[in-house]
Amino acid sequence: MRAVTQQWNAGLYQQSYGFVWEFGKELLGMLAPRAGESILDVGCGTGQLTAEIARAGAAVVGIDRSPAMIEEARKNFPEVRFHVEDVRALPYDGEFDAVFSNAVLHWVQPAEAAVAAMARALKPGGRLVAELGGRGNVAETIRAAEEAWKSVADGPPPSHPWYYPGVGDYASLLERHGMEVTFALLFDRPTPLEGGAQGLERWYEMFGSHWTAALAPEKRVAFLRAAEEIASVKLLRDGGWTADYRRLRVTARKRL
Ligand code: BEZ
Repeated sequence: MRAVTQQWNAGLYQQSYGFVWEFGKELLGMLAPRAGESILDVGCGTGQLTAEIARAGAAVVGIDRSPAMIEEARKNFPEVRFHVEDVRALPYDGEFDAVFSNAVLHWVQPAEAAVAAMARALKPGGRLVAELGGRGNVAETIRAAEEAWKSVADGPPPSHPWYYPGVGDYASLLERHGMEVTFALLFDRPTPLEGGAQGLERWYEMFGSHWTAALAPEKRVAFLRAAEEIASVKLLRDGGWTADYRRLRVTARKRL
């Protein structure tokens, strides 16, 4: 379940962004899936965490808005159920014991439509366990891109597609939709990027198409070099890039 305009290269994502589900395993610990439970995995990507939930004996459904991701997930785990669905328009009403979501909800706007649909999908007393980019996520990465844009192109940089709420923002959304927040934490999680010296350029190419695709090829190269130079002060150490991720982790229970 990713950005409306984002096109996903599922193979490359799986190959280079395995840290997404490696970090997500800690969140799975908070979900603590049990045999026989019905669980919805929102924004399952290539399916690694959905398959872990299935291994615990739960009846899990993984959904993602990207057909490319779902195709890859089905290839990876043919025994698990996956559907192409948009979290804002989930067709479920009171069906799940738990909704789980890792590293996805910051791509979805309006966030309230996603929260309303996830709350609707839960049984009364059902739990939500979610982690997304939180307030300040990739702030330096964005700042570097916007400054670089100004140095190579006319006009203001395109606005980015992400929603990075604080604890209060997201707790209020959940409460408006019948959920009681049981835990919420905003924390820094510096994240080393694969690819050595190319790590940041690859990140912009994978996730920053709102910047890169809007530039002619020669300007795109100048943009990437300028962004690297600006970002290097804070994000480059010993030849490797570390992205300035900040996570908002939240658990909530649907009111009875
Ligand atoms: C994140 O997981 O925080 C993220 C990933 C790609 C683009 C933006 C944010």
